[in-house]
Amino acid sequence: MGICWSAKGKAVNPTFSATTSGGCSGVNFRSTSKGGSGLSSGSSSRASSTSMSQTPRSECEILQSTNVKRFTFSELKTATRNFRPDSVLGEGGFGSVFKGWVDEHTLIAAKPGTGMVIAVKRLNQEGFQGHREWLAEVNYLGQLSHPNLVKLIGFCLEDEQRLLVYEFMPRGSLENHLFRRGSYFQPLSWNLRVKVALGAARGLAFLHGSEAKVIYRDFKTSNILLDPNYNAKLSDFGLAKDGPTGDKSHVSTRVMGTYGYAAPEYLSTGHLSAKSDVYSFGVVLLELLSGRRALDKNRPSGEHNLVEWARPYLTHKRKIFRVLDSRLEGQYSLVGAQKAASLALQCLAMEGRLRPSMEEVVTVLEQLQGSKDTEQKTDSELKAHAQSFSEGQNPRRRSLEAGGSVKVAYPRPLPSL
Ligand SMILES: Nc1ncnc2c1ncn2[C@@H]1O[C@H](COP(=O)(O)OP(=O)(O)O)[C@@H](O)[C@H]1O
Ligand SMILES: [Mg+2]
Repeated sequence: MGICWSAKGKAVNPTFSATTSGGCSGVNFRSTSKGGSGLSSGSSSRASSTSMSQTPRSECEILQSTNVKRFTFSELKTATRNFRPDSVLGEGGFGSVFKGWVDEHTLIAAKPGTGMVIAVKRLNQEGFQGHREWLAEVNYLGQLSHPNLVKLIGFCLEDEQRLLVYEFMPRGSLENHLFRRGSYFQPLSWNLRVKVALGAARGLAFLHGSEAKVIYRDFKTSNILLDPNYNAKLSDFGLAKDGPTGDKSHVSTRVMGTYGYAAPEYLSTGHLSAKSDVYSFGVVLLELLSGRRALDKNRPSGEHNLVEWARPYLTHKRKIFRVLDSRLEGQYSLVGAQKAASLALQCLAMEGRLRPSMEEVVTVLEQLQGSKDTEQKTDSELKAHAQSFSEGQNPRRRSLEAGGSVKVAYPRPLPSL
């Protein structure tokens, strides 16, 4: 299949893909196998009871084996009040996400405002690539369960319609919290930023771990969703990929991801590894620390690319304050800021082997959160935030003004960043 260009909306950090291949033969996902018998089914995490086996799975196998609900299109139409434009929660490159309601026990469409709130993603892109991404989400989120991954409730596959039904994440994406200006989005405090970074890091560490061995491939602020207590959950598994098997350090694949977040070696060679995700994590950590977008054409020249601009400052302990978000002043200690900046710098190492593993990142962030370097006032901050964040706002305006990340396909070689 040819190279597909999309010009939907304005993209702050457009997602790119190099090529798309035709036919369904390329769909090749692994299956889960149950291990360990003594685990409670009520556990919030299937992390230790589920492992991804190396057996390739066909589309039929994925759809048949998943233990999430299969919805009809008409059910989801009812649940979202016919996909009402004013209930759009956000927009990504592959579709819009709508708010809906279902009965929490039967999962049957419920009256708005009653039962359980759900988020319904409706793919608006036709063709193989959209289908592949949809199937990747069903495959991975249908099998993996962890407190830092968004929960997939169900899916719909009917004629040309492809939808995904997730648990609703009331605080929306980290992107909105970091970059939206307005009274509803108070700047996130230092403590909350550390909390969000830690939650997202745990999600990635779980994916990279021996149970799952999955590379997420599209780690960025718009794919990190927040629950009422600012627990971070990774969503959007459309680009997730099985990690390497055996002794291999990487998988070779077409280059896909989002400008500003993709690791340099992945961009230049197509070699994808868990360390590619670590690089993207470094970019997000830098966004958290600086309050700046990974790519921002509205900044003065020389400051468009956050990593390039910040790197020289991060290597000098006393210069890191030039990078730190001025809205965080007085909330962090010198030592805490230096630790966080040094962690970001390590994740952003040009060579993958020099980057830490996500397990190591989690350890450092746990120390940062537990230390006196970060004051323990998260609970009172949560309350203060809860007052400043209302669900009553117009979600459509929120998502559109946030710029949304629109996936765009680009030919290789990729334009320089
Ligand atoms: N479960 C959810 N709860 C609340 N908002 C969501 C949820 N899922 C997605 N969104 C919103 O929709 C946006 C796009 O969703 P995403 O899954 O990333 O779509 P895409 O695959 O098209 O990029 C997110 O950035 C977020 O603002
Ligand atoms: Mg997305």
